[in-house]
Amino acid sequence: MNNSPDKTKVTAIKDGPLMVEGNFTVKGVEGQVLSTMDKVFLCRCGKSANKPFCDGSHRNK
Ligand code: FES
Repeated sequence: MNNSPDKTKVTAIKDGPLMVEGNFTVKGVEGQVLSTMDKVFLCRCGKSANKPFCDGSHRNK
């Protein structure tokens, strides 16, 4: 059973990642599926070692 909302929502977290919620797929540069989860956090600081996902590195000053 899919409990994801129909719409996908993207929320910018202050000084952090983009939180994406909904029914979506994250694909890599080769088109490979990276995630089918219904909530992910995407790095927007460029410091993550696990791009495109946030790994918490944005907290390091
Ligand atoms: S936003 Fe969290 S590591 Fe970049």
